[in-house]
Amino acid sequence: MTQSWRRWMFAILDQPHHGTAASRFVHRLLIAAVLINIAAAVGESVPRFGAAHRLLFETIEYVTAFVFFAEYAVRLWVAVEHPLFKDMPPARARLTYALQPAAIVDLLAILPTLVALFYPLNLRVALIFRLVRFFKLARYSPGLSSLADAVWSERRALLASLIILLGAVLMAASLMHAIEGEEQPDKFGSIPDAMYWAVITLTTIGYGDVYPVTALGKFVTSITAIIGLVMVALPVGIVASAFEREIHRREFIVTWSMIARVPLFAGLDAPAISEIISVLHAQTANAGDAIVRMGEPAHSMYFIAQGEVIVELPQGPVALGTGQFFGEMALLIRANRSATVRARERTSLLVLDAHDFHHIMSQHPDIAQKIKIVAEARGITERRGAPDDKAGQG
Ligand code: CMP
Repeated sequence: MTQSWRRWMFAILDQPHHGTAASRFVHRLLIAAVLINIAAAVGESVPRFGAAHRLLFETIEYVTAFVFFAEYAVRLWVAVEHPLFKDMPPARARLTYALQPAAIVDLLAILPTLVALFYPLNLRVALIFRLVRFFKLARYSPGLSSLADAVWSERRALLASLIILLGAVLMAASLMHAIEGEEQPDKFGSIPDAMYWAVITLTTIGYGDVYPVTALGKFVTSITAIIGLVMVALPVGIVASAFEREIHRREFIVTWSMIARVPLFAGLDAPAISEIISVLHAQTANAGDAIVRMGEPAHSMYFIAQGEVIVELPQGPVALGTGQFFGEMALLIRANRSATVRARERTSLLVLDAHDFHHIMSQHPDIAQKIKIVAEARGITERRGAPDDKAGQG
C-alpha cells in the first residue's frame, strides 16, 4: 500500500512536462511557490515595502518554506523508486539521492528557514540563501539545465582558456608592477595589487580607478586591453556554441519516467539507462508535422515519449503511440525512409542519432534483437512489403 503510494508520488514528481493533470498541478504549484518566494525576497529588501508589509512577507516566507520542506521530504521518501537507485538499500538510495545537485539545491533552499528557527540569521545573508531557491527552477527549465550541461561538456576547454587568461593576468600585472611600481606604489606596488588592474583591463571593464601615468604604462595598458578582447571572447564563444548545441538538443527535459515508459528499455540496468538518456535529444512535433518523409535520407530514430503519430503506408495509415518507436528501418539497412510519419497530436519525441543508434545496437544485443524483430514485422526484409497488423506494435 505504502509502496504504491510512493510509486504514484514518484511518477508525479518525476514528470514536469508530460505527466497527468495531478503532476502538472503539483509542478505548477512548486514553480509558483519559488516565483512568489523570490518576488517576496526581492520586495522585502526595499526598506519601504519591507516595513509596511512585514506580516505579508513573513507569511509568504513561512508558507512557501513549508512547501519546499514538504517537497524535500517527499522527494527523499520516494527516491527509492528511482530506477537508478532501485537496487540499493533504502537508506543508501536516499543518501545517494540527497547528494545529487538538484537535491542539494533543494536542501539549500530550506536551510535558511531551518537555521533561522534556532539561530537568528543576518538578514542579508539569509537573503542570499533565499535567492538560491531560484535554481530550483532548473528542474523545469531546459534552458538552465542546458547551460549547466554546456558548461560541463566544455569544462576542459573552459579550464584551458582560464589557464591562458590567468597567464595573461600574471604577465600583464608583472609588467605593470615593473613599469609603474615606483610611480604609483599604492596601485602597482606589488604584483597582487597590479593583478586587480590586470583583471579589470583584460576583461575590458576598465573602471578607471587604477590607470597608468607613464607613456610605457599606457602602451602596455592598450596592448593588454586588446589582448583581453580576444581572451575573454574565447570562453564566451565556447559556452555560447555549446549552449546553442544543447538547447537545440533538449526542447524538454528527459526524465527517467519517460524512458521507463518505452518498453524497449524496460529490462535495462541503471547505468545503461543513464547512457541512453545522455544521448537522446528531446524534440516536440505539433499536430500535422511530418517528422520523417518517405524517400528522405535517415539520420535518426524516434521514441514516442508522449503523444501519437501516423505512419502513412500505401495500404493505409498505422498509428503508433506512447512508448513505441519508428524510424529504425532506414537506419538498420542504411536506406532512405520507407514511409512518411506525421504527428497526430502534439507529440514529445526522444531522438536517437544514427551514430548513437549503431553504438547502442552494438553494445546492447538484447535491444538490437528487439528492434530487429519489430522492423521485420513491419516488413523490413521485403522492403515496403505489405505488413500484417503486428507491425503496428512498435
Ligand atoms: P523508416 O523507414 O526509417 O521511416 C519510416 C518509418 O515508419 C519506418 O522506419 C518504421 O519505423 C515505420 N514503419 C514502416 N512500416 C511500418 C508498419 N507497417 N507499421 C508500423 N510502422 C512502420
